[in-house]
Amino acid sequence: MADVVTSAKSVLERFRLDGRVALVTGGAQGIGRAFAHALGEAGAAVAVADINLEGAKRVESELQAKGVDAIAIHADVTQPNQVQAMVDAVMERWGKLTIGVNNAGRGQWVDAEAMSVEDWDRMMDLNLKAVFLCAQAEARVMLPAGYGKIINTASMSASIANTPQNQAHYNASKAGVLHLSRSLAAEWASRGVRVNTISPGYMRTQLVEDLLNTPIGQEMEPKWLERIPLGRMGQVTDLQGAVVYLASEASDYMTGHDMIIDGGYCVW
Ligand SMILES: NC(=O)c1ccc[n+]([C@@H]2O[C@H](COP(=O)([O-])OP(=O)(O)OC[C@H]3O[C@@H](n4cnc5c(N)ncnc54)[C@H](O)[C@@H]3O)[C@@H](O)[C@H]2O)c1
Repeated sequence: MADVVTSAKSVLERFRLDGRVALVTGGAQGIGRAFAHALGEAGAAVAVADINLEGAKRVESELQAKGVDAIAIHADVTQPNQVQAMVDAVMERWGKLTIGVNNAGRGQWVDAEAMSVEDWDRMMDLNLKAVFLCAQAEARVMLPAGYGKIINTASMSASIANTPQNQAHYNASKAGVLHLSRSLAAEWASRGVRVNTISPGYMRTQLVEDLLNTPIGQEMEPKWLERIPLGRMGQVTDLQGAVVYLASEASDYMTGHDMIIDGGYCVW
């Protein structure tokens, strides 16, 4: 039985990721880039996958400059063949995959009554279907190995309907990620694969800056700030501890869980 006095590893050692191999989608910028750095700093080898290969290569270089074993992979994660090729590239390079971070996503503000079918489909394709495709391809190598950590980026929007902007399709896609993750967690737990989600609140990334730079966006920030108990928007570094925790053996008894990191937004 594990004992707090005689345990072979200290608690911080149990957060280390040496010898692990991580794949991060949407790793070229924003939250994915921060996840890639966090996992690499904790000792993992990191594959940075993105539809933007130039950006992924920049992050690959940043990681290599820190001494992290890293590669960049071009992948449009909405395409099943490209998702498979992405996982194949990781297997070819390292022969295993222990951590899959399915993070690529998009945002859009549009009133429900004005939303086109294309708006809806584009949102679901990337934010929900692609998360399933990636988790499926990752699990196909993790399940035979008997161990794996899948971490999907959901959002606080999976649990609340944001205001004042309208984004019903985004919110629905993220609620889908949450329940998909719980369902996969239940299905794969007995074979060693854990599936959890990280749900950020409002974080300063390109995705949010682009929305804030629209005419309606100018009014948003003060309204959001009023509702965030900790009084500021998040920075990507605020999420890094959570991804290392969920990727590491420190969280091995945790699956199907959602870590909401939102400055307290959802408590009100
Ligand atoms: N920024 C926030 O406030 C916030 C809040 C909650 C959840 N999230 C979620 O976090 C995740 C990352 O968001 P971000 O703010 O870092 O966004 P971002 O726009 O800064 O980065 C998204 C990355 O995904 C990549 N990408 C887009 N389409 C792709 C595709 N088809 N295949 C592969 N890569 C693709 C982009 O090239 C980009 O590098 C998203 O799932 C988003 O919904 C963000």
